[in-house]
Order: sequence, then C-alpha cells, then structure tokens
Amino acid sequence: MSRDELKALVAREALKHVVEDAVVGVGSGSTVNHFIDALAAIKGRIEGAVAASEASAERLKKHGIRVFDLNSVNELPVYVDGADEVTEHLHMVKGGGGALTREKIVAAVAKQFVCICDASKLVGVLGKFPLPVEVIPMARSHVGRELRKLGAHPELREHYRTDNGNLILDCHGLTILDPPALEAELNNIAGVVTNGIFARRPADLLLLATPEGVQARRRKR
Ligand code: 5RP
Repeated sequence: MSRDELKALVAREALKHVVEDAVVGVGSGSTVNHFIDALAAIKGRIEGAVAASEASAERLKKHGIRVFDLNSVNELPVYVDGADEVTEHLHMVKGGGGALTREKIVAAVAKQFVCICDASKLVGVLGKFPLPVEVIPMARSHVGRELRKLGAHPELREHYRTDNGNLILDCHGLTILDPPALEAELNNIAGVVTNGIFARRPADLLLLATPEGVQARRRKR
C-alpha cells in the first residue's frame, strides 16, 4: 500500500469519530485533505466545520461543507488533524504545512483531538522533523538567536508567510526529551507566536495507518 493510500485509509477511519449534527474541527495537510474528501460523503449529517487553515477552508467549501468562524462556535466535540511526528504519549510535532498556530487554537477548543497518521510518523523521540516556530517578522533575528542558545539550528522557511502573515523558522538539530517543557519555553521567547510542539494539549486518540490496517491508540491519563 502506498503512503497516500495509507493516508486515505486512516482518513476514512476518522469518520467514525465525527459527531453527528455537530461542527467538526478540521486541521490541514495532505492526510487531512483525504479526511475532507471523505467528510463530503456524510456532509448532510454534520452541521459544518471549523478549519485550521485557509486551504482546508477552501477545500471544505468546494465540497459544499459549511465553514464556521471559530468565534461563532460554542462547542467542538472533535478535532481531526495530522502530524509530522507523534510519540506513544501522543505528543506531536506539527506545522510542516505552516498552519500550527490555527491548529493549536482549534485543538485547544476541541473536546477530543483525533490525530490521523501513517505509521512512518510514529517516533520514539520528537525532533528529527525540523520543529516549526511561527515568528512575528520584526522578531526574526532575535528569536533566531534565542533558538540557537537552546541548541537549535533555525532556518527561515523561504518565500513563505503563514495565514496570519508571519514567518516560520524551521529548527533542525533538536532532541526533544521533555516536550511539554520545551513547548512552554519556546512560547516564552518574545516574538514567538507558536511553536509546533503539541504536548501541553496532546492528541486524545491516535489513528495510525499500517499496511495491516488502522491501529487506534488512546492517550493514557
Ligand atoms: C500542517 C500540519 C500537518 O498536520 C502536518 O504537516 C502533517 O501533514 P501531512 O498530513 O501532509 O503529512 O501540521 O501544519
């Protein structure tokens, strides 16, 4: 099975967790694109969606799925999103697609975070995938210096602006042994909007696509 087929498989599996007659939170990325395409088949059974990126919002609308502003939604029972890396503790690195800030906001509102990945994303320790950090443009050099003090090798994502008009520094060379601590520390640097560690609000359920089928792993509390 190709990687894309695995993504499509896990995306279809996530439909089982969508709550009927409610608004569903939708992340971004290629796995989520499969989820949006699958969601179209049951669009009559949901109220609509909140999207974590402009690209996801466009795709939802093309399928005729109503897209709500997060501020107009009181409850979000489920949020479905992918990840660049995920651990057994359901801590994640996200933001490969640059949508980390809105993803973190929607995840914060959602009652349940369902992470959908192919098995290549499961890692023992986070950090091999360069950690994205969204930065206010005027703070780029300052944040870069602070990140280097923490042992990272930040690289400016070329020709790229986030949906919020900011920059991304992709941080190479980190071994993230304590994800909740580093997440908080990075967010404390003046000029950082968000970083791509999702550990303080981890996923609740990981659906992992393998050639043998989809495995479900629930977060231990
Ligand atoms: C975007 C993300 C995505 O969830 C992450 O990059 C995974 O993407 P894909 O499903 O394409 O592998 O965090 O900001």
